[in-house]
This record gives sequence, structure tokens and C-alpha cells, in this order.
Amino acid sequence: MPLSVSPDFANRPMTTFAAEDLDPTESYKLTTGLIVPRPIGWIGTYGADGVANLAPYSFFQAVATNPPVLMFSTGINNGVIKDSLANCRETGVFTASIVDYDLGPAMNASAAEVDPSMSEFILAGLTPKMFGAVEAPGVAEAKAVIECKVINEMMLGNEPTRHALTFGEVIAFHIIDDILDGTRVDPVKLDALGRLAGNNYATTREQFTLVRPD
Ligand SMILES: Cc1cc2nc3c(=O)[nH]c(=O)nc-3n(C[C@H](O)[C@H](O)[C@H](O)COP(=O)(O)O)c2cc1C
Repeated sequence: MPLSVSPDFANRPMTTFAAEDLDPTESYKLTTGLIVPRPIGWIGTYGADGVANLAPYSFFQAVATNPPVLMFSTGINNGVIKDSLANCRETGVFTASIVDYDLGPAMNASAAEVDPSMSEFILAGLTPKMFGAVEAPGVAEAKAVIECKVINEMMLGNEPTRHALTFGEVIAFHIIDDILDGTRVDPVKLDALGRLAGNNYATTREQFTLVRPD
């Protein structure tokens, strides 16, 4: 049976924003307000100086599965390159640890914009751990850590705000046994965080099932 939309709903007042009329802050607010919840990739890298770097990226997504590929997008404001991107360009590898509810405060602490010589692992009270497939540290306290090698970078946008999309092919997934049944990850036990706009987050605790039509 076709779904019907009440005429009242169809006639609700709407505001339209033409993207070309928005300044970078307005574009950011509308994009991050509507595209929710966004998964968070907790990106672990090594700097050329051997410092273990960690930062959350919510412009983060799975974009392919054969082989699996992840992407995170770095905002470049006025040409300033963040450490994760600089390190990926230097080393060609990164990890993406999954942020769960209990690790939320540590994830937030690791977002501090600090000098590259300072490790956010230390700042956030976390343990950098090598998982064996790539030369990049993951979060030992995370329930899952994904090791990736950089396969591509794409630049989008115009000055003063550009974005570099870093694509990483997954070399290995590491998942604690407590949340795993074969290759099925229990989403309740994973308890991943999603980012909403600004400082707000969602959990994946409330779920429901929809059986797909044939
Ligand atoms: C939940 C969360 C998500 C974030 N997502 C992004 C993102 O997608 N892209 C980005 O450039 N910065 C993002 N940030 C800001 C970076 O984490 C922050 O600039 C950090 O200091 C970058 O660290 P780095 O220089 O070590 O890479 C996010 C911050 C938080 C708290």
C-alpha cells in the first residue's frame, strides 16, 4: 500500500537556504545539524617525531566493503593542516578506534588542539597500542580498532575552508570477543557514540527492527 502524506504535513512552512548564499559557518551548522548521528572515527597516527597522535573525526564513514574502505574528512581552515592529516600524508597509515559511551569523555579530551609534540593519548589518559598490521597506534581501551592504509586523498571546497578526504583501506579489524558472534558485532554491547550538532551526542541504545520488503 502506498504511504500517504497528510496534506497538512505537505504544506508546513519551510525555510530554504541556497548553498551558494551561505557563509562557511552557516554551511557547517546546517550540514552538521541535519546529517545526524554521525559515526566518530577516533583517528590514531604517528607523527614523524614518533609522537602518538589521536583525534576524533565525525566526518567519518564506511564507503566500500570489497575491500573495506573508510574515509575521514579533515577541515582545513586558512591552510592550517591538522596533525592527523599531516601524519597520514607522512606515514600512509592510520587506525580508527570506535568510541563507545564510556570513552566519550576521553574522546572529547583528545579533541584538544595541542602542539604536535604533545600526545593526545597522554592528555586523555589512554593507552596507545600497536595492533600489528600497520605502524599506527590504536586506543587499547576501545572495544574495536580498525587498521588502515591510505589509498587516496581528495580535496574539496574553496578557501578559506577546504576539506581533505583521506580514504583508508582496512587491513585488519580488531574487536573484543565479548561483543562478537562470528562476524556479527552486537550493536548494544558496542554502545557506539554518534555525534549530533555542536557538543551533543547520541547513543545506539534505542533500536528497532524493520524487515525489508522482498
Ligand atoms: C566529536 C568530534 C568530531 C570531530 N570531527 C571532526 C572532523 O570530522 N573533521 C575535522 O577536521 N575536525 C573534527 N573535529 C575536531 C578535531 O578533533 C580537532 O581539530 C583535533 O584537535 C584535531 O587533532 P589533530 O590535529 O591531532 O588531527 C572533531 C571534534 C570532535 C570533538
